[in-house]
Amino acid sequence: MYGSFTRQAHLDIGVGTGYFLRRLLETDWIPQRLIIADRSRNCLEYTSRRLRNIPHETLQLDVLSIDPASHQDLEGIESAAANFLLHCLPQGIASAQELVDFAARILGDGGVFFGSTITGQAAGQQVTSRTVMQLFNRLQIFGNRDDNADQLHELLSSRFVHCRIGAAGCVTLFAASNAELDELPAGVA
Ligand SMILES: C[S@@+](CC[C@H](N)C(=O)[O-])C[C@H]1O[C@@H](n2cnc3c(N)ncnc32)[C@H](O)[C@@H]1O
Repeated sequence: MYGSFTRQAHLDIGVGTGYFLRRLLETDWIPQRLIIADRSRNCLEYTSRRLRNIPHETLQLDVLSIDPASHQDLEGIESAAANFLLHCLPQGIASAQELVDFAARILGDGGVFFGSTITGQAAGQQVTSRTVMQLFNRLQIFGNRDDNADQLHELLSSRFVHCRIGAAGCVTLFAASNAELDELPAGVA
């Protein structure tokens, strides 16, 4: 999925260790502009080292407090990814309005915002996944107890005309844009 939506001018929000980016960079994708963003300085430094041969910019950003007047230099970005980020926020999807507003502003009419999140309500009947989900929410590692795909669709639709939601187990995949979108491809990677 990551490769299907990533364009030449790309921003990865909550980049972590840069796992998806690294995999994509093993293909023939050559970004014209690449920005990695994360709240954690350690993650940015680590991923920046891993990307050392690829020109890129780093941005320390907390998606819970984005100044709406900031980051005008990012306007014109063509794709923005947020993979496995929303479930880490204190109230999961309910905490992500600022992020979606930000993505919509910088992407404009043609760009695509896409990613994945673990949704608590999709834990289903499997004892193991339910138990891990409950434990992680109790430890405040995840904040996704009440998250579900409909809530994510509603959030994305507040700022984007087109929105696609898919599922792979407990993982909800999404893509949103003001331009027409293809259906989500199957699978996560
Ligand atoms: C589970 S990791 C996902 C990393 C990567 N996107 C991936 O899929 O492999 C979540 C990342 O989001 C970052 N993060 C958590 N809360 C954040 C926030 N409020 N603002 C920005 N980044 C945040 C963490 O530092 C971490 O790097």
